[in-house]
Amino acid sequence: MASARGEFSSRFGFVMAAAGSAVGLGNIWGFPTQAASNGGAAFLLIYLVLAFTLAYPALMAELIIGRHAHANAVNALRLISPNSQLRNIGAATGIIGFIVASLILSFYAIVAGWMIAFCLSSLANLLGLSDLAAWLTTFGLPRNVLFMGIFIVFTIGIISAGVREGIERWSARLMPALLATLFLLVAYVLTLDGAMEGLRVYLLPDFERALSPTLIIAALGAAFFSLSLGVGTMLIYGSYINDDENLPVVGGLVTLVDILIAVMAGFLVIPAMYVALHNGVDIFTATGELISEDTLIFTVLPELFTTMGFAGIIVSFTFFFLMSIAALTSSISMLEVPVAYVIEEHGLKRKTAVFSIGGAIALASGVILLNFESLFGLVIAFTTRYSQPLLGFMFCIYAGWVWHRDQLLQELRKGSPEVEHTLFWKIWPWYVKLVCPVIILGIFMHSLWG
Ligand code: PFF
Repeated sequence: MASARGEFSSRFGFVMAAAGSAVGLGNIWGFPTQAASNGGAAFLLIYLVLAFTLAYPALMAELIIGRHAHANAVNALRLISPNSQLRNIGAATGIIGFIVASLILSFYAIVAGWMIAFCLSSLANLLGLSDLAAWLTTFGLPRNVLFMGIFIVFTIGIISAGVREGIERWSARLMPALLATLFLLVAYVLTLDGAMEGLRVYLLPDFERALSPTLIIAALGAAFFSLSLGVGTMLIYGSYINDDENLPVVGGLVTLVDILIAVMAGFLVIPAMYVALHNGVDIFTATGELISEDTLIFTVLPELFTTMGFAGIIVSFTFFFLMSIAALTSSISMLEVPVAYVIEEHGLKRKTAVFSIGGAIALASGVILLNFESLFGLVIAFTTRYSQPLLGFMFCIYAGWVWHRDQLLQELRKGSPEVEHTLFWKIWPWYVKLVCPVIILGIFMHSLWG
């Protein structure tokens, strides 16, 4: 059965693909900007704790269920359920997951399109085409639709080639390029005047802030979004892993790469803000907070690049190129979720599935663009703030309570025969059963009523 579906050819291929999914705009944009607005290192600290204690166990739940079932989330949750009621709830969870994954892609493609536009704008500047460069960086419907469309076409192109030829091959090419670009940029920015002040802000935690509930909620959302959890992405990638693979180890590698890149991006973006300040760019809001979110990426950083002259054009191109790659390796994993479902459940050919679902998602992005003010923020909050943690909670419940413990152990033993004697097996089962669900729900309730 596994061979009729796609399968990753190697550990490296899987880790690059899953880390490619995890590492995206969430790491390079979301994490540093949230860290900037939530007290720098305080946020970093909470994020690290949550990533290891909550997100990694939840990631493992998805990977193990997926590898066991060698199927999409709907079928996988059905398979591990002992009775029809749980089978139905499992199937519903999988279906909601694939709708949420598609909705995430619909806003993600818009933002990724901006990244491509900003990247090309640097090229236009280099060629002296300043009108074109200005058009590319100005918010407007034609530009937004055009670049969202281009981005979706790239995503469709990769996914239509399948697991090995598409997802694995492109992740294995793009991820090393992303890492190299990120390291280069960090090394360069840290040599500029003002960067050390940014480093200080990033690395000195403000403990009072670290314990504020708003910060913890933001950090949990960031950790879940960053590891692509809750929507079945990691489950479907898990379903393409070879049975001999040691899951706790590969899951750990993916978590480490994801965290490493988020932390590295902080070393780039926060010092860059202080370089901007040093160059006379305003980086604080009227209330004295650091500027964050879209203003940071699309206003503060470009203003910084402008103050840097020719070097600024190159750095700007490299930065937005990095963002575009990061977005692409994530968006392919989002599209694979609904695509795998319709292929396996409704017998569609991959190409038909990819084109029809990709087209529908592009339409949804178009609707968001036409109603930008009212829909953009709403779709982001609905998917990332509420749906992802809740669906992540469901996956933990299925791994911890619904699935038979012996079967789970057998699944893990396939790739690590000694797993029973490891720390992982001593901690993870009760963690995913009790700790993760209680904490996720607690934080979630607080975000609703707190
Ligand atoms: N992990 C991606 C990021 O950090 O940008 C976002 C993401 C990818 C979320 C895939 C959900 C998903 F299914």
